[in-house]
Amino acid sequence: MIQGKRILLVIAGGIAAYKCLELIRRLRERGASVRCVLTRAAQEFVTPLSVSTLSRERVFTDLFSLTDEHEIGHIRLARDCDLVVVAPATADLITKMALGIADDLASTVLLASDRPVLAAPAMNHVMWNAPATQANVATLAARGVALVGPGSGPLAEGETGIGRMAEPPEILAAIDRQLGGPGPLDGRRALVTSGPTYEPIDPVRYIANRSSGKQGHAIAVALARLGARVTLVSGPTRLADPPGVHCVHIESAVEMLRACEDALPVDVAVCAAAVADWRVAAVAAEKIKKSDDGAPPTLALATNPDILATLARRLDARPRLVVGFAAETENLIEHATAKRLRKGCDWILANDVSPETGTFGGDANAVHVIDGRGVESWPRLGKDEVADRLAARIAEALR
Ligand code: C5P
Repeated sequence: MIQGKRILLVIAGGIAAYKCLELIRRLRERGASVRCVLTRAAQEFVTPLSVSTLSRERVFTDLFSLTDEHEIGHIRLARDCDLVVVAPATADLITKMALGIADDLASTVLLASDRPVLAAPAMNHVMWNAPATQANVATLAARGVALVGPGSGPLAEGETGIGRMAEPPEILAAIDRQLGGPGPLDGRRALVTSGPTYEPIDPVRYIANRSSGKQGHAIAVALARLGARVTLVSGPTRLADPPGVHCVHIESAVEMLRACEDALPVDVAVCAAAVADWRVAAVAAEKIKKSDDGAPPTLALATNPDILATLARRLDARPRLVVGFAAETENLIEHATAKRLRKGCDWILANDVSPETGTFGGDANAVHVIDGRGVESWPRLGKDEVADRLAARIAEALR
C-alpha cells in the first residue's frame, strides 16, 4: 500500500535520472509523499526545480546547507520516511553504500537511515558486471537492501547489455512489495543461530571452525522480510549485522546457549550455527607458556551443550517449530534422519558438505528437508534462496 506512505527518493547522477520524474508523479498519484535528495551529479541530469515542482516538496542537495539543516537535519531526513528508494543507484553510490562512505548528503542520509532501502541500479553493462560492483551489490543484498532491476536492452551509450534502470511501473511494484500489507510472519518471533563458535584455550588462543555464517544470516533476513521479529545469535563472522534484525554477538557455545535461552519465548528456532562440539575444560587464566623442553600442553576437553537439542527438548517455552541443520559427508539422508530423532527437532535440513561441493563458506547449498512425513529435496540454490524457501515453509507451518 503506497497510499499515505512517506518515500525518501535519493537520485544519483545517471542518465536514467530522468525516469525519476515519472516515478515521482506516479507516487504522488498513488497518495505517497515524496521527498527527494539529489546528488551533485544528479543535478546535471534533472533540475531541482523540476523535482520540487513534481514532488511539491523542497529538494535537498547539500550536506552543509545551513537552511537545510535548520529546516530538517540530515539525520531526521534519513529517518522521517517509510522507505528509502535509490534511483538511479549508480555504481558510485552503490559503492559508497557498501563501504559506508558518507561524503555528501545522499551517501550520508543512506548511512544514517534505519529505514528499509530499495535500490534501482543503472549503469553501463561492463560496470554492472565488474567484480567490484557485483561484490558491492551482494554486500547490500546481504544487508537486506532490496533491488529492482537492472534490466537488459540498449543502453544510453549505444551498447546493449544489462544495466538499464527498471521502468517506473516496475519500481512502483517493488515499492508496493516493500511497503506491502502485513507479512505472513507478522507478530511471530524467531530465533536463529549462525556462524561458528570460538572456544577459548587461554586469553589469546581459541579453537574455531570455518563456518561463514552466510546461511544463518540469510535465514534471519528472510524471516524478518516476512514480518517476523528475529533475534540472530551469532558467533564471530565477517558479515554485517542485517538491518531490522536483533543481533546478539557471542563467542562460545555456552554463551550461545545462554543468549538463545534469553531470547525465548519464540515461535520458531532455526539452529544454523556450526557449534563446536567440545570446549577446553579449564581455560587458562594467563597465556599458556611454551615449556622449555618444547613439549606441547595437553588440553582436556569437555562436551559443549547441544543448543538445538536443548531447545527442542525443553518442557517449558519450547518453540512451536525447531529446525536444525545436518552437515554430512556420507549417507546424508540416513544420518540426518537419525539426527532429527536424536535431537528431537521438527525439521532437519540435510546438506552435503564434502569439500568438493564448496558448501562450507560458499554461496550455494543443496538441501533435503526432513520432517516427520519424509524427505523433500531442493535443487542446488543460492543460500539466500534456500533461506527464502525455508522462511516460506516456516510461515506455512505456523499459519
Ligand atoms: O550434531 P551436529 O553438529 O551434526 O548437529 C547439527 C545441528 O545441531 C545444527 O543445527 C547445529 O546448529 C546444531 N548444534 C547445536 N549445538 C551443538 C551442536 C550442534 O545447536 N553443540
